[in-house]
Amino acid sequence: MKSLVVYFSRTNITKRLAEDIAGQLDCDIEEIKSKVNYNGKLGYARGIKDGASGKIIELEPQKYNPEDYDVVYIGAPVWASKAANPIISYLNQNEGRFSNVKFFLTAGSSGFDSSFKQMEENSVKPLKTLALTTRNVKKDEYDLTSFLE
Ligand SMILES: Cc1cc2nc3c(=O)[nH]c(=O)nc-3n(C[C@H](O)[C@H](O)[C@H](O)COP(=O)(O)O)c2cc1C
Repeated sequence: MKSLVVYFSRTNITKRLAEDIAGQLDCDIEEIKSKVNYNGKLGYARGIKDGASGKIIELEPQKYNPEDYDVVYIGAPVWASKAANPIISYLNQNEGRFSNVKFFLTAGSSGFDSSFKQMEENSVKPLKTLALTTRNVKKDEYDLTSFLE
């Protein structure tokens, strides 16, 4: 089973989880980079606005083609109860290239269900989903066993 982990992360929480997943699977990993700058205070405000609108944005080119993989693990932070725009844009721009997907999200506390729904609307039904709070990731309070099976 050939797997790929794809993620976007603004403050390295989702990145930490993505790296753990890729490490356990010993598979390729791709960080999605946005052409829109979401760093700093201004970037936070932009993230709230773009997240709420679900706007599709421009991304830097990617290294891996999701069509070459049996399962693609896709991860994002929740922004304004939606999956962060760089990941929605990645899914949207790769429409029709996914066979099996698993989604993982990190958030302060809420917005998981609406974000998973939006991700599915932009790709295919996921085999599995994993929702973790920022705190759980920071404290290593999670178990990936059933998500990776
Ligand atoms: C623009 C923006 C909007 C956010 N909206 C939510 C939200 O609706 N619900 C929530 O629980 N956390 C929200 N958060 C918190 C992040 O989802 C959380 O800190 C996440 O773990 C950050 O992941 P990252 O470090 O990979 O970027 C938001 C953060 C940002 C920057």
